[in-house]
Amino acid sequence: MPLGMPVVWDHGKLRIGISCAACHATVDPKTKKVVEGAPNNDLNAGLIMALATNSAAYFTHADIKSLKRYIRSVDRTVVDSKGKKSPLPDPQLLEKEVDRIFASWQRGNFDSTIDMKANPSQIPDSFTLGDHPYGWSGFAAAGPFRGLVTFSNNVHAQNADSLAQSELSEALFGIDREVYIGTILQNAANPTFCYKPNRNEKPSEFFAKVDPTPGVVGVNKLVAPPQFPKVSLVAPDGLVVSEPGYRFNEQNNAVAAWQNTVNPSPRNAKMDARRMARGRGVFVQAGCIRCHAGAYFTNNRIVAAEVVGTEPSRAQALKKTEKVFAEAVFYAPDTPVPVPKNAEVLKVPTEQLDKQQIRLAFAHGDSKGGYKVPSLIDLSWSAPYLHDGGVAVGPNGELGLTGTLRKGIVPDARNSLRALIDRTVRKQVIRANASDRQLRAMHVSGEGHRYWIDPQAGFTKEEQEAVIDYLLSLDYSSSNWEQFTRKNKSSSGHINR
Ligand code: HEC
Ligand code: HEC
Repeated sequence: MPLGMPVVWDHGKLRIGISCAACHATVDPKTKKVVEGAPNNDLNAGLIMALATNSAAYFTHADIKSLKRYIRSVDRTVVDSKGKKSPLPDPQLLEKEVDRIFASWQRGNFDSTIDMKANPSQIPDSFTLGDHPYGWSGFAAAGPFRGLVTFSNNVHAQNADSLAQSELSEALFGIDREVYIGTILQNAANPTFCYKPNRNEKPSEFFAKVDPTPGVVGVNKLVAPPQFPKVSLVAPDGLVVSEPGYRFNEQNNAVAAWQNTVNPSPRNAKMDARRMARGRGVFVQAGCIRCHAGAYFTNNRIVAAEVVGTEPSRAQALKKTEKVFAEAVFYAPDTPVPVPKNAEVLKVPTEQLDKQQIRLAFAHGDSKGGYKVPSLIDLSWSAPYLHDGGVAVGPNGELGLTGTLRKGIVPDARNSLRALIDRTVRKQVIRANASDRQLRAMHVSGEGHRYWIDPQAGFTKEEQEAVIDYLLSLDYSSSNWEQFTRKNKSSSGHINR
């Protein structure tokens, strides 16, 4: 069976789902064992989505500047929320365009943001302990488990259920709610859910009759927290997944507690202590430690996209949420689902968070957004690097995504790390990526993060290799560096630089 695709027998039908493991687990080619938390970096999620009958339901993740461009006749109309007749886009035309965009996503990438832009990002590793704030822009910072719950919850509305956004379509996309629901349902694969325009029924009325989760927004088992339909720091898509029979947010809390235990061992054999200390010395000397500091090799900060210099599109993906932002409130954790009428409402603590950092995470105000400093634990599993996955070099020096994943070759961690820190190699990688029109259109470049450990920066090739060895050896047991240095005090003069 494909990894992460559970099959269930449900009411006389065979159903195949996609679980978190489809993207957040992989198979070790050497041992043939499943490695939980490692990104499935050659998964062609875009192609899978493009092959679906109704990819158009996911149009907010594609590059659709305006639905109006896809209107071909005034025969397919709905009565919108203001009582006016509004045409729907042509279903075939929209489907074709969304398919075209999804089919050009980079393998190992997925577009989880609803910004009407095609900016898929690299599936990150989910070795989540200490790696807060979560998401490439660090927007999931508040709530239980330092935002991990907030991120994992986001998957179920923003990423898995377009209908969950129907109350926000006007604010986020400038699309009337009825037009939004009609667009999603007019092309539905299952005839039960297929909306036919021009009958005397609004799309929302039609959907209410066939909704598999009546009384809940969208089709997933979601709960509208007290701030709904507004969004908040703990519910950036407005909703919280919670199944009847559980308590409010209980499943998200549980998955977060488990995610923080995911702790694979590095792929390469343990480094000898002298070599590690040498690499560590170079790492410190090169200033990496300014940001990749502490037990988990991150200062847990978000750096402005202009400063880190990587592709800026993803950093701005949550900008429009500013219009619908409300205070972070939750139901008390012991609230049963379905939520009773007088359920207790609690304010989620957010005062501890730096306001400027939140502006960067969401690109609110005049901020152009930013990217969080990711932890460097277990880098051997997470090539290609950076949020766009653009820093890729193959096992035989194949350059960029054009030389690797575009050809079905999985990038090599060591060679890709060299391209991350050596400007000569990086230039070649960026050039290779830029030669591919589709990569350019998907905002994948491999640019930025200009922190070099190369001859121009005064480092020898030997120092460069030592730091790569060091980086590839980092796991949770390297977290306690103090202990490590005490044990190996005499191994290198570089440690205290
Ligand atoms: C189709 C692929 C896919 C699936 C399925 C998927 N994810 Fe993700 N996940 C991603 C991508 C891509 C990102 C990066 C999103 C961004 O910030 O742009 C991500 C990011 C994350 C992060 C943030 C990690 C960090 O260090 O910042 C967490 C946590 C996470 N996902 C949890 C989950 C959970 C839990 C599920 C299942 C309910 C899930 N994901 C299903 C692709 C996927
Ligand atoms: C000013 C802060 C800063 C400094 C200094 C810095 N980094 Fe980073 N690093 C970041 C940020 C932010 C990202 C994420 C950027 C993105 O994905 O767009 C990142 C990403 C990375 C990644 C990719 C992780 C992944 O999973 O894709 C690696 C590896 C890395 N840095 C190593 C280093 C090394 C080695 C140095 C020193 C030569 C260094 N960094 C210096 C902020 C910094």
